Amino acid sequence: MTAVDDVPTTKGSDAAAAGSAPDTPPVPPAARRRLPRIAELRTVLRFRRPTLDPVERRLESALTIADLRRVAQRVTPRAVFDYVDGAADAEATARKNLAAFETTEFLPELLHSVVDPDISTTLLGDRIALPLVFAPTGYTRLMHEAGETAAARVAARVGIPYVLSTVGTSTIEEVTTAAPGGNNWFQLYLTNSEALNAELVERALQAGVRTIALTIDSAVGGRRLKDLRNGLTIPPSLTARTFLDMARYPSWWIDKLTTAPVEFASVRDFPGVSYSEVAGLLFDPGIDYDDLAWLRSRWPGNLLVKGIVNPEDARRVVAAGADGVVVSNHGGRQLDRSPATLDVLPAVREAVGESTTVLLDSGVRNGQDIIAAVALGADAVLVGRAYLYGLMAGGERGVDRAAEILRSEYQRALQLLGLDATAKIGPQHVLRSERASG
Ligand SMILES: Cc1cc2nc3c(=O)[nH]c(=O)nc-3n(C[C@H](O)[C@H](O)[C@H](O)COP(=O)(O)O)c2cc1C
Repeated sequence: MTAVDDVPTTKGSDAAAAGSAPDTPPVPPAARRRLPRIAELRTVLRFRRPTLDPVERRLESALTIADLRRVAQRVTPRAVFDYVDGAADAEATARKNLAAFETTEFLPELLHSVVDPDISTTLLGDRIALPLVFAPTGYTRLMHEAGETAAARVAARVGIPYVLSTVGTSTIEEVTTAAPGGNNWFQLYLTNSEALNAELVERALQAGVRTIALTIDSAVGGRRLKDLRNGLTIPPSLTARTFLDMARYPSWWIDKLTTAPVEFASVRDFPGVSYSEVAGLLFDPGIDYDDLAWLRSRWPGNLLVKGIVNPEDARRVVAAGADGVVVSNHGGRQLDRSPATLDVLPAVREAVGESTTVLLDSGVRNGQDIIAAVALGADAVLVGRAYLYGLMAGGERGVDRAAEILRSEYQRALQLLGLDATAKIGPQHVLRSERASG
């Protein structure tokens, strides 16, 4: 029953209050009717000041990453939204990623003070604000011209690492200049040109990058049916429907037409490579353990291998010199029917031992997901779409909003679990329930 239900409103009650029905109990004075006093309503009826800036208004109304996703879908051309939101083939892995988090339950440990919790953690020797990293995403300036540099600036402000993609639309130097104090990492696709690989590694080093993540789950490109149907391919072959839909978003067009071209910025000046040849160069089906050894011998900084779902692969890449692994199925964008990353995480942690860095991504959409991943063995998680939805919804301010949503959800869930520090999260705090796969 609600509070409103508790208020007597019937004539019978009034009669009882007046004493005309002696067999019904009297109505207490506080519940008796009287003339309305508008002034008293001020305590419950306070209106929000209207926000005139439309971007600010839509960001304020977004309380979750799912809300940001809905806003992004409304304000972005469909083909662009699909490129971010979509996944490979039947998208079964993308759905499994989400289901694995949604069906993980928490077991709190209560009656412990959670005043002023310490949500920070140590990752590869650095103290970071919370166990969160912005994942590498290609083509980011297609979504919003603010692109990679905005994401890097937000990450630096929040105090978490940002990973620039090899196929980013801003250069390594642009990112490190935009976020000079940031913990900027570089994601490497080893191409079939050793000279280009060597140049990228050298530029990362010169720009002050200390961590490279080598992505290994992309020997060939995943088959993203939505992109093929929309004609968002390299080179593009837009359908008439895609083009007409894009025409409905003039501000997106103006952004694209009045800012630097959307291209693979870090590889654009490499001699002898035309734009349409880049994609063929980037996915090298020949990549193998010799390439990993080559990179290890060249790169003095932290080396992570991204795209691991098999615990045996994790053990082997660490034996080959990697400092850590990113348990990832590329957000379901590469091999469909790969397992959900959360499901394989405990076995990967066991395979590489306690002292190796283990990160996880694919399907993280809220702060509770971060808790689940840390409880099951991750040192931190990466998010891709979560901050891209923010970027599409409102540029740099939207990425800020996404980070704030994740941070506050993470802290609240930690406190409700009865824990006052990230370091106290353990496997005893989660229950994995049986669920139907897919
Ligand atoms: C639009 C988009 C582009 C991506 N581009 C890259 C990339 O260039 N290199 C890479 O290693 N991973 C790339 N990824 C994968 C992300 O790094 C990350 O693994 C994935 O987004 C995690 O899943 P989530 O989006 O559910 O968080 C991309 C993901 C998206 C959504």
